[in-house]
Amino acid sequence: MTAAGFKRLKLGVLISGRGSNLQALLDAVADSAFPAEVALVLSNRADAYGLERAAKAGVESAVIDHKPFKGDRPAFEAAMDARLRQSGVELVCLAGFMRLLSPWFVNQWRDRMINIHPSLLPSFKGLDTHQRVLDAGGRLHGCTVHYVRAEMDDGPIIVQAAVPVLDGDDADALAHRVLAQEHAIYPLAVRLIAEGRARVEGERVRIDGDSQNPAAALVSPAG
Ligand code: GRF
Repeated sequence: MTAAGFKRLKLGVLISGRGSNLQALLDAVADSAFPAEVALVLSNRADAYGLERAAKAGVESAVIDHKPFKGDRPAFEAAMDARLRQSGVELVCLAGFMRLLSPWFVNQWRDRMINIHPSLLPSFKGLDTHQRVLDAGGRLHGCTVHYVRAEMDDGPIIVQAAVPVLDGDDADALAHRVLAQEHAIYPLAVRLIAEGRARVEGERVRIDGDSQNPAAALVSPAG
């Protein structure tokens, strides 16, 4: 419970590296009026910079290195699952977590696990999205927060933001523009879920409570 008397949704954030999306979530939850808190940051790499971000924010973290499991993915995932439950996690947020998750793990957290992906899904699943958009001559690019399903970068879409592709963009410039939007929409998606306003119906997400769709209203300026 918070001082304001409401219960905050407990997040478990899974990372493998830099953790800038983790930082966006840490910044959001630092506001006591935000309806979620970070209960655990879990990394599969001990050297992930995101772990330093967690420490700085005074948030609990843990490392479960996949390497000692020597390819035994069920055992690795069972360990992660147990650790998340130990911290009372209610919503898993994948934030640059670079391990594929099995259908078993995905099912444990069905409709309680979300991911951020740097493209306007369902286009450009997978890696190197910025370069692939440039190579395809795309005019618009962006990012998506979605519920996780067993297929990679698949699942009901919660929030998207679009950015323009500009003349002279290289992959880094485009990545930079997209990343700024990622940092805006990940906390927004978490807020919508925590407030009970984003509901999965069939395989689509319905957003309650606004006459406009708050999950599609973000189109960034060119800068
Ligand atoms: C982001 O581009 C995110 O969309 C993708 O992985 C990257 C993670 O970056 N899933 P960071 O670790 O959050 O800085």
